[in-house]
Amino acid sequence: MFTYTADFSSLTHSIVKNFIKEKKVAIDGTLGNGFDTDFLADNFEIVYSFDIQKIACEKYKENQKKNVVVINDSHHKFLEYINEEANCIIYNLGFLPGGDKAITTCHKSSIESIRIGIDILKSGGMMLITSYRGHDEGMSEYNYIQELLYKLPKNKYAVMKHEIINRSNKSPVLFVVEKK
Ligand SMILES: C[S@@+](CC[C@H](N)C(=O)[O-])C[C@H]1O[C@@H](n2cnc3c(N)ncnc32)[C@H](O)[C@@H]1O
Repeated sequence: MFTYTADFSSLTHSIVKNFIKEKKVAIDGTLGNGFDTDFLADNFEIVYSFDIQKIACEKYKENQKKNVVVINDSHHKFLEYINEEANCIIYNLGFLPGGDKAITTCHKSSIESIRIGIDILKSGGMMLITSYRGHDEGMSEYNYIQELLYKLPKNKYAVMKHEIINRSNKSPVLFVVEKK
């Protein structure tokens, strides 16, 4: 049984819990079934959570935590809804588990959102992106994200990539961006 490498969701939560000191504002760029949003809500004062699928937003609202703001819109529109810096931004890309697999995150809006997210990340804050390479759009999204993150200035950001190297080169990847 694997523990550290078992799933990127637990790893993401553990990194957020242990390494982000100031836990005021968090953004979940992909609400989905609300698993990450609930985790963020338990650890941060306020959470802004985005999803383009109405069904995901409505379902989450049935048991919504009171410090969560659910936004039924695309994450590349962060600035239309948020006017403060964030200590943490999480993306779990791809499609909604148990939902319509045709509705998946796309590189264009993901890249735009990540660029904006990096700007509004507060000093000491972190962005964590889980990218799925098992389908064509996912692989392309992964390549664009990696290209963008490679170019971040090293005096201001450090980027770490978690990848299980003895599996297929289509297995998921977790990127962690830390802002100085
Ligand atoms: C893998 S799921 C997220 C899982 C979620 N983090 C959880 O804990 O259940 C990806 C979600 O991203 C959403 N999505 C796709 N494109 C989006 C966009 N441009 N902006 C916001 N959400 C988007 C999908 O509708 C889907 O629900």
